[in-house]
Amino acid sequence: MFKVNDNYLKLKGSYLFSAIAKKVAAYQAENPDRSIIRLGIGDVTQPLAPAIIEALHKAVDEMADAATFHGYAPDLGYEFLRSAIAKNDYADRGCDIAADEIFVSDGAKCDSGNIQEIFSTDCKIAVCDPVYPVYVDTNVMAGRTGVFDEKTEMWSDVIYMPCTAENNFAPELPGQTPDLIYLCFPNNPTGSTITKDQLQVWVDYANKAGAVIIYDAAYEAYISEDNVPHTIFECEGARTCAIELKSFSKNAGFTGTRLGYTVIPKDLKCGDVMLHSLWARRHGTKYNGAPYIVQKAGEAVYSDAGKQQLKGQVAYYMNNAKTIMTGLKEAGYTVSGGVNAPYIWLKTPEKMNSWEFFDYLLKEANVVGTPGSGFGPSGEGYFRLTAFGSYENTVAALERIKAL
Ligand code: MLT
Repeated sequence: MFKVNDNYLKLKGSYLFSAIAKKVAAYQAENPDRSIIRLGIGDVTQPLAPAIIEALHKAVDEMADAATFHGYAPDLGYEFLRSAIAKNDYADRGCDIAADEIFVSDGAKCDSGNIQEIFSTDCKIAVCDPVYPVYVDTNVMAGRTGVFDEKTEMWSDVIYMPCTAENNFAPELPGQTPDLIYLCFPNNPTGSTITKDQLQVWVDYANKAGAVIIYDAAYEAYISEDNVPHTIFECEGARTCAIELKSFSKNAGFTGTRLGYTVIPKDLKCGDVMLHSLWARRHGTKYNGAPYIVQKAGEAVYSDAGKQQLKGQVAYYMNNAKTIMTGLKEAGYTVSGGVNAPYIWLKTPEKMNSWEFFDYLLKEANVVGTPGSGFGPSGEGYFRLTAFGSYENTVAALERIKAL
């Protein structure tokens, strides 16, 4: 008789955003006349920028002609895109990352889930609490997290780094030494950030401890303050301890188009084994590359027109963030985030827990958000709203919340 990977049985019934989608669908089915505003999952709502659409059309036409048709993409991504990334996201920021240290993929969610495969199952992970659930869930699937304690809602073999109002939602160095440290800044879910000097402390720590930082920079385009780093490779010594994950979803609206990349410097080694070689081996074996037309669309993100148009799109969402922050403050809520990130993190009112507030908001205001406790035990008593809605819906949602 076959056996299943019973690590999967340790997971909660469904992924956080799937559980929310089910709850909302059930409520909508019971209340078909209600107009629900969704500010839960961080999914974009604005159309792809004209420069990107133009590149997509052109690439589709190329696929219609044998002379310009493209089959399998190169394992690690087309040179035109990897070079555009290396120049714009790294060289122009003074960071030393070569095009061949960049691995193009169909998004940062898969990469952030898959990257743990190249590490031993003995590795101990450290995560912020609250945290993007993919990091923990995928380590559960791999059997790296030990036993779940229902009472504390913590895994026995995971090092949790609480991010609370007391520490400004910025993790402190862990008491126990981890092998893998997941960091995400600007942060999902709290919308907090750390300065370059603070990130340098983490890089120095990882180099000293022989740990790897898996740095998720998916929300980098939303940074508005000067002292916040756009990439971990701005820090001295990051080439020997950091992997960076980047997405085209949030800066360019690719949530449905799918594109991302991972950077693994060749200096990042375990003894004389380059992690770069292991990830290249995995990519080659398990992946056939993001579609040509999508990689062409990704290249357009770095064109002059693309950059200009996307600046406008980010400003549009950040105006929503400001609208949410201002509206919530007027309504008496305690809020943070929303300045360098498209997420607003609010304290739930009147001792309601996160899921109680979720139900209350859904039923009384027909507004969907994300319960903070879904991201980890320190998220209890908090709630996340996203700025990725349309402006009209954002304004309407805030009017409803203020009227409660
Ligand atoms: C979120 O809402 O946290 C994100 O949209 C999820 C994701 O990017 O996968």
